[in-house]
Amino acid sequence: MRRIWQATMIALARHDGLTRFMQSWRASSNLAGRYVAGKTPDDAVARARRLMEDSNLRASLFYLGEYVTDPQIVAETVLRKIEVAEAAVKAGLDVHVSVDSTQIGHMISAEAARNNAWKIASGFSAALKDAGPRNGHVDALMFDMEDASVIDDTIALHDGLADQGLPVALTLQAYLKRTEADLKRQVERGGRVRLVKGAFIASGDIAFTSRAEIKANSRRLIDLMLSKDAKDAGFYPIIATHDDQIQDHALGRARENGWTADQFEFEMLLGVRSDLARRRADEGWRMRLYTPFGVDWWPYAVRRIGENPANAWLLARSLVS
Ligand code: FDA
Repeated sequence: MRRIWQATMIALARHDGLTRFMQSWRASSNLAGRYVAGKTPDDAVARARRLMEDSNLRASLFYLGEYVTDPQIVAETVLRKIEVAEAAVKAGLDVHVSVDSTQIGHMISAEAARNNAWKIASGFSAALKDAGPRNGHVDALMFDMEDASVIDDTIALHDGLADQGLPVALTLQAYLKRTEADLKRQVERGGRVRLVKGAFIASGDIAFTSRAEIKANSRRLIDLMLSKDAKDAGFYPIIATHDDQIQDHALGRARENGWTADQFEFEMLLGVRSDLARRRADEGWRMRLYTPFGVDWWPYAVRRIGENPANAWLLARSLVS
């Protein structure tokens, strides 16, 4: 039942006509208001600054858009990513800038995605160098992970930039069977990985399909991320979930293996279980909030609705109000 709900929401998220209609219909913006920080890089940085000042929460800023085929929109997206990275660094924030490979050229050609990823990462890196020492910051260009067909190319983008010494990080998804091998490679490289359960669905030959299996795999992968070997390799774990049991599991492993609070972090989404995010930060753990901004909010918001059937009322309200 949950899988059918999620599949339906994923289909709604990919529907061009509905996306155009919803994004131009003012009344539906209460859905955007819950999950999205505003329209411009300035809105995003202002929200990130408030999160830090009010609740000691870091931000991962994401200019919205996915599966983009129009070269002009791709170029604009690249500019917004660089702009927001520069503005956040200037504001003194410890910041991640998140990016989907399908919004920066993957849909056009592998070369376009590579060039654009390099432009963003090197612009970000130049801003960091200009800003001087940033004690205790873990600034990074974070590659989000999309459906299973994009994974190899996204990992290649990340690894190519990491090999050039640029500040990058990679998202991996616990619902996929391949992830253990992908993660082991990143641990050996001493990389930075954000582990999520996965907002997509796939068949049983490549994916775990029940919630129990995905949760069990999340635990196994966290054991690798917070192992003594990973610590010795200089690996930086980012545990991205709203599942407090999984967060507790990570904290147990971290304590067991001697990880200190500045050697790993948690990440959650803006607008989801905000009380839990603040509680973790109050307890002294690093917590980051994924903070989207921009006008292309429908696919993102609907995927969030799909993650929790209890959110059906939010969708219903946005359709009738
Ligand atoms: P899970 O679904 O197990 O639920 C745990 C608790 O949180 C429940 O009480 C549930 O009701 C509540 N909850 C979860 N989601 C909610 C929502 N949207 N609204 C209200 N309550 C909710 N996926 C992906 O495929 N690629 C990616 O790059 C990313 N990036 C990413 C970054 C960050 C920072 C996060 C937190 C998540 C992602 N995701 C993602 C999404 C991820 O794969 C997953 O779909 C969601 O996080 C839901 O799984 P959880 O483990 O958080 O909670």
